[in-house]
Amino acid sequence: MFSGFSRRHFAKLTGLSAFFGLAATPAKPADGDARPAAERHAPFPFPNDFVWGTATSSYQIEGAVNEDGRGRSIWDTFAHTPGKIEDGSNADRANDHYHRYKEDVGLIRDLGVKAYRFSIAWPRVFPEGSGAANPKGLDFYNRLVDELLNNGIEPYATLYHWDLPQALQDRVGGWQSSDTSKAFGDYAGYVAERLSDRVKNIFTLNEAGRFLNFGYGWGIDAPGLKLPLGELNQARHHVVLAHGLAVQAIRAKARAGTKVGPAENIAACVPAFDTPEHVRAAEMATRELNAGFLGVILEGKYTDGFLEFNGKDAPKFTAEELKIIGAKNDFVGLNIYAPQFYIAASDRKPGWSVLPIPASFPHMNSEWLKVGPEVIYWAPRLAAKVWDIDTIYISENGTSSEDKLGPDGKVYDLDRIMYLRNYLSQLQRATSEGVPVKGYFLWSLMDNFEWIFGFEKRFGVYRVDFETQARVAKLSASFFRDVVARNGIGV
Ligand code: NOJ
Repeated sequence: MFSGFSRRHFAKLTGLSAFFGLAATPAKPADGDARPAAERHAPFPFPNDFVWGTATSSYQIEGAVNEDGRGRSIWDTFAHTPGKIEDGSNADRANDHYHRYKEDVGLIRDLGVKAYRFSIAWPRVFPEGSGAANPKGLDFYNRLVDELLNNGIEPYATLYHWDLPQALQDRVGGWQSSDTSKAFGDYAGYVAERLSDRVKNIFTLNEAGRFLNFGYGWGIDAPGLKLPLGELNQARHHVVLAHGLAVQAIRAKARAGTKVGPAENIAACVPAFDTPEHVRAAEMATRELNAGFLGVILEGKYTDGFLEFNGKDAPKFTAEELKIIGAKNDFVGLNIYAPQFYIAASDRKPGWSVLPIPASFPHMNSEWLKVGPEVIYWAPRLAAKVWDIDTIYISENGTSSEDKLGPDGKVYDLDRIMYLRNYLSQLQRATSEGVPVKGYFLWSLMDNFEWIFGFEKRFGVYRVDFETQARVAKLSASFFRDVVARNGIGV
């Protein structure tokens, strides 16, 4: 990529490496502005108490799959099934974070963020999914939480980021059974009782809409099932029930003041353009298109539209279950990457329509990741309006990039910076208009196992060499550190 460069160009290019030095000179701003962080202003600032963080998940980074009594998860099984992962890899070792967590906490600290969202591997804590706990499994998270706090970083724990204990899949069919929902509630209570002296914020399920549809409906993710719609909807109901039971258990077992909520990949709607009638249409679409997960969690009922659409395939449920599912949350986490639905007002029922997205619509390095920065403005704004939410976290946002090492050993991930700059500008627009977004977690801290794409798709602001486990800050790490230091965008 750099081969055609003249020496002068090259010198200029390597001069840019002064912009890195992230670990070496954490206090030095990336743009040469010598003022201390507290005196530096950004024309597009975030609220003073805005929470800046970064995020990862257990199976994607930990490795150590056979250590300290960890049970198998459905992703161990799936990744070891030939043909399931594009590059033939698995996460047996991944980032070896289980052993390198101290170094990794150092990377978080060097970004200047004050929060970190990680996930707890259920099969480390309950190797069989339920029954006897494995205290050594929870010990790892005790060590991690202590290390974070010692470095001034607030832990935000996610209880389920897709690594379901294989034992539950084998015994009861995983999410096909409400036994799994009950087991999840028990696991949530167990963890909350032991960590909530230090962990004040707990996300229940990560992207229920994704792991259920991809894993149980379309056979793409673990456990690779293709259930008919009726059975899929029943499993969907068990998933939201698990969320509700976890909220209940956390309220019962955790220290007072522990906050809890879901982290959902909201079906993200954007009005075709900004007119009141399209905005109203996008509100209606947001409610209906999210009825199976966020909707039932936040309303305690399935919408008439959802029940009508599914007809005889609608889930079976009781009033008591709906009450549990609809238990009050303290916040809502939204994972936002790409606009999913552009919505227009329509004269025909139900008053809105989904517009076809042209094949020429731009995308990032991951083909599914369409670039539409406005989605991070609209999705929280519409969600807050539809469900009257007062606290939203962007629990994930980020992009993959080619992320090749240059001849100077650096990664100039300008496409990621372009993406983040645009998305963060739209997020700032949202907070400045009073949309109640209280924090942002960049996905991801470092490259990791990107599920069916293996290690080929890199989402980190630190590059990881999976042979040597060396971590290198990409240019985007400097960009993000500067946004965090200024609490805003712009100079
Ligand atoms: C959302 C998922 O929660 C995370 O695990 C995944 O790596 C990112 N999207 C990027 O695809």
